[in-house]
Amino acid sequence: MKEFTLGTKAEDILRLFPEGRVKKVLLGQVEIGILRKGNSFFGFELFCPHRGASLLTAFTNSSGELICPLHEYRFDLKTGQVKSGSCRDLKTYSCKLTEHGLVISIPENQ
Ligand code: FES
Repeated sequence: MKEFTLGTKAEDILRLFPEGRVKKVLLGQVEIGILRKGNSFFGFELFCPHRGASLLTAFTNSSGELICPLHEYRFDLKTGQVKSGSCRDLKTYSCKLTEHGLVISIPENQ
């Protein structure tokens, strides 16, 4: 597992990530999407596992699901489990806000 830290202070991270909007982040060789809900951050692969639509314009619902803008398949934001539609689960990445920045973990084989 590789760990990356964005920023140096929690306040900077909260400013950098507007609530409810997916931002693209490059970590080593891997580009991922990160979405903030309050003080919680969710990392996931940037392209939908159904037909590869960009998830930069994905949105969320009150059940904590990420909704692909193309065919509206829904994925659990925490686990990536597909909740509606038929495709594999979305890959997710652990993101943790600390007082020293946002810590993101990416498996070595990514
Ligand atoms: S490409 Fe995302 S639901 Fe079809």
